[in-house]
Order: sequence, then C-alpha cells, then structure tokens
Amino acid sequence: MNPWEKLTEEEKERLRYVDTHILWHPFTQMKEYETENAPIIIAGEGNYLIDIDGNRYLDGVASLWVNIHGHRVKEIDEAIREQLNLIAHSTLLGIGNVPSIRLAEKLVQIAPKGLTKVFYSDNGSTGVEIALKMAYQFWQNQGIKEKRAFLSFYNAYHGDTLGAVGVGGISLFHQIYRDIVIKSVKVPSAYCYRCFWNKEPKSCDKECFSALEEAFKKHASELSAVIIEPIIQGAAGMIPWPEGYLKFLRGLCNEYDVLLICDEVATGFGRTGKMFACEHEGVSPDFMVLSKGITGGYLPLAATLTTDRVYQAFYDDYEKLKTFYHGHSYTGNPLACSAAIANLELFEKNKVIEKMQPKIKKLSQLLQRFWDLPWVGDVRQRGFMVGIELVKDKKTKEPYPLKLRVGHRVIRSARKKGVIIRPLGDVIVLMPPLSITEDELEMLCDVVYQSIEEVCSGIDS
Ligand SMILES: Cc1ncc(COP(=O)(O)O)c(C=O)c1O
Repeated sequence: MNPWEKLTEEEKERLRYVDTHILWHPFTQMKEYETENAPIIIAGEGNYLIDIDGNRYLDGVASLWVNIHGHRVKEIDEAIREQLNLIAHSTLLGIGNVPSIRLAEKLVQIAPKGLTKVFYSDNGSTGVEIALKMAYQFWQNQGIKEKRAFLSFYNAYHGDTLGAVGVGGISLFHQIYRDIVIKSVKVPSAYCYRCFWNKEPKSCDKECFSALEEAFKKHASELSAVIIEPIIQGAAGMIPWPEGYLKFLRGLCNEYDVLLICDEVATGFGRTGKMFACEHEGVSPDFMVLSKGITGGYLPLAATLTTDRVYQAFYDDYEKLKTFYHGHSYTGNPLACSAAIANLELFEKNKVIEKMQPKIKKLSQLLQRFWDLPWVGDVRQRGFMVGIELVKDKKTKEPYPLKLRVGHRVIRSARKKGVIIRPLGDVIVLMPPLSITEDELEMLCDVVYQSIEEVCSGIDS
C-alpha cells in the first residue's frame, strides 16, 4: 500500500488544519495560504513529488533549488543509512568526525584553485555569516582596524540572518530591518532589462562596470570584503551579470586589496552548467559559500571555503585571541556530510555536468516561444536557472500591481497541471533538478506556458 493510501480522511483533515493553523510557513502570507489548499507532500520519486492525496507533481524548482539527482536516490539513501548505523551526530568543537573530514578533502579537490580550508555550518545564511565574520576578523587580527565595511549589490540576496540581510539589496525582504543590520556600501547591480542607468545592453557604455570601480576608488580603504552572487543574482529574479563582470570585480579586489566572497549557495553544484559559477570566468574568490545542492538536496549543510592567506591570519598562540569564535551545534553533521560525499560521487559517476549540456540547450530552445507571449517582458537563463519576467505592458515594462498576485496565480495554475514551481514576485522561476529529462523539460515548459496564458489573458480581458 502506498503511504498516502494509509492515511484516513480524518488524518488528512488534521494534517491540513495543523499545516495552516499551527505551522507558520516561510516567506508565506498565512492569510492567503490557509485558503489555498496547498499540497502536503508525503513522498518523492525521481523528479516528482507526491502529496497526501496521491497527486504527482514535477519538482520544477528542485524543492527550492536544492535537489540535484532527484528524490530517493539509491546511493544517497544508502550513504545516510550506513552512516546512521555508525552515528547520527557528534560535534566538531574540539574533536573530529570521519564524514566531515572526507568531505572537506573532496570539496577542496573540486573547488577553484587556492580554496584550501573548509568551515562547516547548516545553511546558506550561516555560511554567508561565516564568510562575513571571517573577512572582518581577517583585517582586525592583523591590526588593520579601518577595514570594517562590506560592499554589496542592489538586488542581492544572501540569506535571512541579520548579517546576510545587511548585505542584501531586495527592498521587499530587507528594507524593514535597515535600522538593525550592518551597513554596507551598496552598488547598483547590472539588471539589464531594467537598467539603473536607463541604457540598453547593446549600446551602453558599461556604466555598471564604472560604478563599481568608482565605489572601490572611494571606499576601498574601509572595505574588508565584497560579496556577490557570481554570474547570476538568484532571488532577485534570476538576473545574470554581464559577461566579464565577475572577472572585473576580482581584478579590483586584487588592485585594492579587498577580499572577494562568492556566494555560490544557489549557483553551486552545477546549476549554471559548470560545477561552480566562478568557473565561467576563471575566478578564484577568497571565500566561496556553498549550501543547497551540497547534499544533493537531502539534508541541511553549508561549507564556507577560504584560502591559506585568510587562515594564517587566525593561526597563532591561543593568548593572542585570534581564534575564530564561531560554531553551531550541528557543524559538520555526519549524516549531512555522508549525503554530500555520495552526492559528489554521483556527480562523477553519472557525468552530471557533461550530460547537462544538451539539456541546457534544449531548455534554451523551449524558452524561445515565451518571448512571443504579450505578457512576457524578459526571459533569462543561465544553465538550469531561469527567470521569466511577466509585465503588464511589454512596451513600457510596467509591472503588474502587487495585489493582482500574477506570479503567484501562475504557479497555482501550474500546480493544477502537475508542476510545482515558485515565483519571485512576477518572475516565474524554473530551476529543476539536474536529473530532469528532456521530456520532463518539455512538460515543464508546456505547463508554464499554458499557465501564463491562462492567468494573464484573464487579467487583460
Ligand atoms: C545566493 C544565496 N545565498 C544564501 C541563501 C540562503 O540560504 P538558506 O536559505 O539555506 O539560508 C540563498 C537562498 O536562497 C541564496 O540564494
């Protein structure tokens, strides 16, 4: 008997009640959620999710950008079970554990050159906090007291803890906390569709590059680090950086001696078509933050990788007080690290990055026809990261009024057709597991196309 068939109608009712009246969902207006009869997932199979009524849905956003090889992958399931037979958790504070050591070695092997040290935490936000704190303390430990600030970008998203919010740039999420977070120097990002300088990519003078250089000239002496989502800003609505921007930034960091933090929480582990987004421009950062796909989407884990140069600024006699006083109860959790090792082994065994390439091309082809829809202003893609921006007026780029909830209505329509996705405002996001097949990509795009048509044509009439 399937697990959903074992539930009585009363049990399902109870689950629905608790899910809407006791459980408080993240990034969710509960007043809206409680009326929506959202699916409650009970099982998964390959690239599909199954709810308590037995409905199957294609997992179009990889369970919030984490899943890599699909659900219930034999090798990862077994790795976790094997580790369970040994121990579920032991601390890294002052002692070691086997899976965290093995994983650290593997991460350093696959990371861009120069990243030789690994510090674990539990999620993307804490991974970012660690990079920020390490970068700050790196200068303090060396007596360079004035380098206390960070540079970050408009539209940036680095997580929800307060340090990460301080370097965030999405007003909807971050504005309300502005008085209680660290201040950072904010530079306009290169959102070509809605260019800050009102230019077009084909005819602009790369004003975004100049603005960045200006900020360095003005602030470098006080900057400890700059933090960026390499190649593409994810949560802002899948906004790619212009080619060469990351490399240019690395050059400025070298010239002005500012540390570079690449937040690869969303882009890491194949999402952009390479193992890490930094590789597209041959950049090695001073910190690389990894999470989401690190365990194949199985368990919470993050790793902040850094260089020997950074490490050496902390390495001294205890009484010099240069220790990095930071750690979490579950730092280096053996179950999560075992899942991560199995995930990395599967990348190699299944040649995941290589096999993705034709699927990326296929996805680009499938996305072409979206341009013809009168409500689609922009279609953006880097690998398996896609944003389809819906607008009220294609000519003026005027957005829909917030209260129409257009993006949200599109994803609810897609759900009825067997696809689970989640929008970022009125940007429809596609971010499937890397294991998605070409047929499933077709289904995903068909459903999204139909759902946009259905919802948006209704609004115009
Ligand atoms: C680029 C980036 N950094 C950090 C985070 C935060 O990760 P988490 O939600 O695991 O805290 C996210 C989450 O979407 C992200 O996209």
